[in-house]
Amino acid sequence: MKYDYLIVGAGLFGAVFAHEMTKLGKKCLIIEKRNHIGGNVYTEIIENINVHKYGAHIFHTNNKEIWDYINQFANFNRYTNSPIANYKGELYNLPFNMNTFYQMWGVKTPDEAKKIIENQRADAKVENPKNLEEQAISLVGKDIYEKLVKGYTEKQWGKNCNELPSFIIKRLPVRFTFDNNYFNDLYQGIPIGGYTKIIEKMLENIEVKLNTDFFTDKEKWINLADKIIFTGMIDQYYDYCYGELEYRGLNFEFETLNQENYQGNAVINYTDVETPFTRIIEHKHFESSDSPKTIITKEYPKAWHKGEEAYYPMNDKKNSELYEKYVELSKKEDKIIFGGRLGMYKYYDMWQVIDEALKLVKSLVI
Ligand code: FDA
Repeated sequence: MKYDYLIVGAGLFGAVFAHEMTKLGKKCLIIEKRNHIGGNVYTEIIENINVHKYGAHIFHTNNKEIWDYINQFANFNRYTNSPIANYKGELYNLPFNMNTFYQMWGVKTPDEAKKIIENQRADAKVENPKNLEEQAISLVGKDIYEKLVKGYTEKQWGKNCNELPSFIIKRLPVRFTFDNNYFNDLYQGIPIGGYTKIIEKMLENIEVKLNTDFFTDKEKWINLADKIIFTGMIDQYYDYCYGELEYRGLNFEFETLNQENYQGNAVINYTDVETPFTRIIEHKHFESSDSPKTIITKEYPKAWHKGEEAYYPMNDKKNSELYEKYVELSKKEDKIIFGGRLGMYKYYDMWQVIDEALKLVKSLVI
C-alpha cells in the first residue's frame, strides 16, 4: 500500500490524527472536498480581520491536557465569551446572571432574584415537563423563558418550543453572581492569528489534496491505504442504505462595514422570534484588529437538505436509532474508521474532537 492512512477530511479531527500519526512515522494522505483546510474551524483574513467563516469559534475546555496540546500550535488570547441578548431592542447579559436579573426586574440582590424565579416556577405548576417550553419555565420561570429562550430556540430548531422534546435543555445555567463569563471552563481563548494557522502547522509535513471528494472515486481511495479515517457523513458512506440522518442547516450572511465598531461585542443574540437571524457576530472583537472597517455575520438557521453543508445533528430518538444502525454496519469494517462530528453524528466542541482523535491514535498504536 502507498499510505498507512488515508484521511478523508482536513477538519480538526483529520488534522490532529494525521499530525500524530506522521510523528509516529506513519505515511498519511489527506483528501478534502472543500478548497481549504480546517473544516468548520477555518478562518480567513479579510480587511486585516480574522473572519470565522463557519460561525463563531471560541476554544474552551476544562481539560488541561487538551489545552496544553492546542497551545503547541498557537498562542491564545484571553478572550472571555460574554454574549449579549437583544430582545426587541432591550439588551440583557448572558448567561443568566445577576446582571440579567437587574436588567429584567431591577433586582439588586441574589435573594430578590431567587424569589422572583421561585415564584414564577411555582406559578407554572410544572411537575413532569413534557416539552421544552415546560422544561425551560420549570428551570428559569416565565419572563426569562419568554424573552431570552423561546424565540431563539424556535428559530434555532425551526419548531415551536411546545413541540420540541424537553431533553434539548437539560439545564439552563443560572448564576446568582454578577458574572457574564458564558463558559465555566478553566481555559478559554481565541488563537492569535486564527484557527487556519493551527491546522497549517498540524499539516506542515503532510500531503493534502484539496477539492477532492472521496465519493468521486471511492474504490481508488480505499485501495490506496491500509486504513481509512473517514470524517465525512457516515450515512453517505453507506449510500444512505437505511435512510438519511437529519441535520439543522445555517446560512451565513457576511457584510463588510465602513465603520470601526458596529456592535461593541463579538456575539449578540437576537432572542425574539420575528428577527430571522439568531445572532450577529462581529469578528474583530475576538482578536484585536486595527482595521478601520469591521466585518459582521448574521446567522440564519434553516432546514437542511441532502447535499448542503450540515451543521447541527438532530440527536432525537429517531435519528439516534438510525445512527446506531450505521454504527452496527461500521463494526463489520476492518479498514474504515469513522471519526469527527459527521462520522460520529454528534455535536462536538473542538476540545472533544481533539480528545477523540488523540484517543483513536492511542488505540491504534497500542
Ligand atoms: P469538520 O466538519 O470541521 O471537518 C470534516 C471535513 O471533512 C470537512 O472539511 C469536510 O469538507 C470534509 N469532508 C466531508 N466529506 C468529505 C468527502 N466525501 N470527501 C472529502 N472531504 C470530505 N466548538 C467549540 O469548541 N467552540 C465553538 O465556539 C464552536 N462554535 C461552533 C459554531 C458552529 C456554527 C458550529 C456548527 C460548530 C461549532 N463548534 C464549536 C464545533 C466545531 O466546529 C467542531 O468541533 C469541529 O469543527 C469538528 O471538526 P471535524 O473535523 O469533526 O469536522
